[in-house]
Amino acid sequence: MATSKSDSIIIVGAGVFGLSTALELNRRGYKDITVLDRYNPPAADGSSVDISRIIRIDYADPVYCKMASEAYQGWQTEYKDHYYESGFALLSQTPDNEWIAKSAATVKANGGTVEDLDDARQLLRSFPNIQSDLAGMNGYLNRRGGWADAASSIQKLASQCSVAGVSIISGPRGSVGSLLKEGSRVVGVNLVNGGSLRASRVILSTGAWTNRLLNITHAATSSGQPVGFIQLTQDEARSLDNTPVMINMSTGVFVFPPTPGSNILKLARHGYGYANEVAIQLDGATHTVSAPKFESSNAGTGYIPQDADDDLRKGLKQFFPKFADRPWMNRRICWYTDTPKGDFIIDNHPSLRGLFVATGGAGHGFKFLPVLGKYIADCFENKAPAELREKWRLQEAPRESPAEKSMKGDGSRAGPPLRKLTSTEKARL
Ligand SMILES: *[C@@H]1O[C@H](CO)[C@@H](O)[C@H](O)[C@H]1NC(C)=O
Ligand SMILES: *[C@@H]1O[C@H](CO)[C@@H](O)[C@H](O)[C@H]1NC(C)=O
Repeated sequence: MATSKSDSIIIVGAGVFGLSTALELNRRGYKDITVLDRYNPPAADGSSVDISRIIRIDYADPVYCKMASEAYQGWQTEYKDHYYESGFALLSQTPDNEWIAKSAATVKANGGTVEDLDDARQLLRSFPNIQSDLAGMNGYLNRRGGWADAASSIQKLASQCSVAGVSIISGPRGSVGSLLKEGSRVVGVNLVNGGSLRASRVILSTGAWTNRLLNITHAATSSGQPVGFIQLTQDEARSLDNTPVMINMSTGVFVFPPTPGSNILKLARHGYGYANEVAIQLDGATHTVSAPKFESSNAGTGYIPQDADDDLRKGLKQFFPKFADRPWMNRRICWYTDTPKGDFIIDNHPSLRGLFVATGGAGHGFKFLPVLGKYIADCFENKAPAELREKWRLQEAPRESPAEKSMKGDGSRAGPPLRKLTSTEKARL
């Protein structure tokens, strides 16, 4: 089903998936593109926001390793003002961590280099300002990698879209309550303020909110991951100059160097997360999904569950013992869109004509910002290689109610298993 360059296209979601797609389709000559979101990009409670995201080419999976290397070129050129090459260290307490070993092999096979750390204390030679003693840990360091300022990169992308002629609508006029359907065809979207917008094609890049609009339980779910921020003084931040991004693959906790200027220290956990079960109405039926709040910002309360707080605090003590007792300046839950193997979902909907889906970031999408739109547009235009179409396929939902499926990602996560939030916890979100 070819889309003509003058056809109207609505993209729901102004995160990295939606905006990179909008810009790339615009560059390919599509003239009538509208991006809708609840909030102005960077969306306050999206997963493409706040001060930092890891930029790495380190992947066990060769496809994402190659894509990340392409994106890395973009971070060094077009997006260099938003990128900090601190280096990236993957550490484990147990020897022979399978994911780390695979990742090192994949990076090397792709022409990269890694520095093996049989004893992670070797890291202190290159980075004497690291506070942790790293005793008993091993892993490797990749000097190619670091972190990007997520909010400012999204701002740049949004302004590039706007200048190129893409409409971006936020607030109640941009908040999509449901898909507008005629038979088995999606012909637009219904807005929460009662209006609707029609378009030839609708692209859902709604991340963790996707399952509120589409019955996609068999392919994706949403999990909340804890993030904590600590305010340092200028001198304290200086004391951590020239330290890498580090992840403890035994706990999933990862840390960034303090942000220049604002001196904020951030740590988070790449784990299995928390489910927020909500009852939603879809096609006249009620069903239960795990999803972030829709009506208000999920970043508002600064609440994270107590066990997540305890684990982040433990990680803080392990990585930055000098700041172990510092109070949080802010905390939040970052919402992942999890898929069974951590693969994205980039495909025409199998039965709803007119609908294309680009979601399923699974906690590793952001780094692809410079190239993601190109891959999504290739799928949209049916130009992508068969291997990628297959990898990112959206399967038809099974006829009978599927058994609860595991959405554990690509094997890179650690920490406690997925836990459903209690009603008391949910009330505090
Ligand atoms: C990583 O996690 C392990 C297991 O909990 C812990 O023993 C170790 O101290 C942690 N290391 C760092 C640097 O966070
Ligand atoms: C979603 O799809 C599943 C599997 O086909 C089905 O069992 C369920 O009833 C559907 N739910 C809704 C609300 O359409």
